Amino acid sequence: MIKSSECVGIILAGGTGSRLHPCTKVTNKHLLPIGDMPMIFYPIKKLVGAGITDILIVTGTEHMGDFISLLGSGKDFGCSLTYRVQDEAGGIAQALALAERFANGQPMCVILGDNIFEDSISNTIAAFKNESGNAHIILKEVPDPERFGVAIVNGNRITKVIEKPTEPPSNFAVTGIYCYPGDVFNIIKALKPSARNELEITDVNNAYIEVGRLGYSKFKGYWSDAGTFPSLAKANELVREAAPKF
Ligand code: DAU
Repeated sequence: MIKSSECVGIILAGGTGSRLHPCTKVTNKHLLPIGDMPMIFYPIKKLVGAGITDILIVTGTEHMGDFISLLGSGKDFGCSLTYRVQDEAGGIAQALALAERFANGQPMCVILGDNIFEDSISNTIAAFKNESGNAHIILKEVPDPERFGVAIVNGNRITKVIEKPTEPPSNFAVTGIYCYPGDVFNIIKALKPSARNELEITDVNNAYIEVGRLGYSKFKGYWSDAGTFPSLAKANELVREAAPKF
């Protein structure tokens, strides 16, 4: 039985992978290689490295069997894995909503399965635990912020996050590593689908901003997503140049 003060891990590995077609026609994006490991190994190792060993993996129906064949119970990683199916790719917040029963009121660290980064998340988890009751996100300065959620930062507060703005208000991308308290599911239940018909994680973060409950830190090392051919190539290059810290 997990103690309520502990943090669970959630890896979101659903979605269609459409930007990587035809490579994702018969497999899932998160099973493609980065360096010498499948992509999904990286978020698992990041969570385990930060002491988070109770982990839920959310993915679609098509390749759930492959995830289970590859990862099993999690014993090879020193963790316990639970699996949940997202029937359709209805957005990151919709995928996270499937973790409600698993999280069972506990705080959680959520990682988007296509985010590859250098820093350990141990310090982030410690900062999150210190800001009791607050959510916590990680920013990274990037040259192409229009591809991401972008944060408006004022002093030590984030005042707004804008999803893929055509005219980015800053160069600070919101990375796909999010720490939430157990009440995140109430926020998701109140969300309306966006113009692209998804439940957006950016709306979740803005809801925490509105009530003054969003902390943040910044990555020092590299960070990349791996959801397009250029970013998949970049993530491979980054990992080859400097191994991530787990
Ligand atoms: O990588 C960071 C960015 O990720 C953030 O800056 C954005 O605010 C956030 O919306 C997200 O942007 P993307 O458009 O790049 O997200 P994408 O649709 O590529 O999904 C990222 C991961 O989330 C994907 O690897 C699997 C998971 N996912 C996504 C969707 C849409 C799911 O598990 N289920 C889903 O329905």
